[in-house]
Amino acid sequence: MSDIIVGIDIGTSKVCTVIGQLGRADELVIIGEGMDSCCGIKKGVIVDIESTARAVKNSVEQAEAKADIKIGSAYVNIIGMHVSVLNYRSEINRSGEENEISQRDIDKVLHNVRDIELPEDRQLIDIIPRQYIIDGYDEIVDPIGMLGVKMEVDADVIAAKITSAQNIIKSLEKAGLKIDGLVVESFATAEMALTQEEKDIGVILVDVGGGVTDISVYKNNRLLFYDSIPVGGDHITNDISIGLKISHNDAEKIKRQFELALTSLIKNDQDILVNEINENKKKAVKVSEVVEIIECRVHEILYLCNELLCKSGIRESLPAGIVLTGGGISHIDGGKQLASEVFELPVRIATPKLNGITKSEFMTAAGIVRFANNNKKGTSLINEIKNKKQVQKNNENGVFKKLSALFKKLS
Ligand SMILES: Nc1ncnc2c1ncn2[C@@H]1O[C@H](COP(=O)(O)OP(=O)(O)OP(=O)(O)O)[C@@H](O)[C@H]1O
Ligand SMILES: [Mg+2]
Repeated sequence: MSDIIVGIDIGTSKVCTVIGQLGRADELVIIGEGMDSCCGIKKGVIVDIESTARAVKNSVEQAEAKADIKIGSAYVNIIGMHVSVLNYRSEINRSGEENEISQRDIDKVLHNVRDIELPEDRQLIDIIPRQYIIDGYDEIVDPIGMLGVKMEVDADVIAAKITSAQNIIKSLEKAGLKIDGLVVESFATAEMALTQEEKDIGVILVDVGGGVTDISVYKNNRLLFYDSIPVGGDHITNDISIGLKISHNDAEKIKRQFELALTSLIKNDQDILVNEINENKKKAVKVSEVVEIIECRVHEILYLCNELLCKSGIRESLPAGIVLTGGGISHIDGGKQLASEVFELPVRIATPKLNGITKSEFMTAAGIVRFANNNKKGTSLINEIKNKKQVQKNNENGVFKKLSALFKKLS
């Protein structure tokens, strides 16, 4: 089953599983998908491991049935609020310069990246090589087979909050699965939503989920900025529920019925009948009342994203503009117009582009599969990720000293 890669996206409103298979020409095909609703996550934080594990199990079983295989392990997402991405350069000097650079050299230079100092509440979950520099020549993606003495690597070091990482692992283990790796959600989504050209020339990816909106900026194929705000599509539903005094379920239904975020796009401002909460009667409301509520909240979400970007000082010179994704905005007409007004940049809505993906809901899970496949030449930290709790418990002289010693012992 080494040609099988499984991605699980644990989101605020649902858990999605995607099973990918590598074909003969190394092309990735999706052979199974599964989805189950989940209420174990609040504002991006796992608050109920049992119910998250149940949703994971159900979505995996559906995907397994479609693919007609049993899976034992998976890659899983971790959201932006719980990770920091640090840039780190490490180097080695090769003695046998007449020998070609091999995977061993790559492993060695990446291993040195592990010496980075991290805050006590963080653990290393991934090291993503971005470029190699051989004897001063940079922008090398795959140095294997080249000659050179000094070998450097520029890597993105991904550090996660220990509690968040361990709760994700626990949820997977309770669902009977081993963990292959943790993938930063934005990397997975970008893998599916953005083109290489957009990532090169500069682009902002805005992923409006259920409870959280993630904002990431890519330029020169690097992640330049990454942040989240704890507001998403569920807040639109709450606003409708409170504004019209109707139940949350009815509000969600109405939101999905109109899928509109601009009052100027309303064709027929008719009356609709809604069930008054706790009253056994119906009342009439205008379509424009619903759409106005949606418009306000979508505008606010986009405004907050723009504020974050302006404060960070990296809003300029991103010619590819904005790419919108996530269930909270991608189904809603007018979201694109609102975004171009707020950001004053070109906007497009992302569409999934991977063989076998049938619904946009599976974008992140499919992106995890694709990211894991594209980065398998990197370094596997899975044992360290899982054992982190134990290391932390034994820690008396600073987490990182011990962790480094452990890495050295394991290598
Ligand atoms: N057809 C639709 N019209 C309007 N909103 C929709 C529609 N379908 C889904 N949504 C909204 O999309 C949101 C969920 O988006 P998504 O599936 O991207 O979130 P998630 O990945 O579960 O959560 P997060 O990324 O925040 O952890 C919910 O608020 C839901 O109401
Ligand atoms: Mg999501």
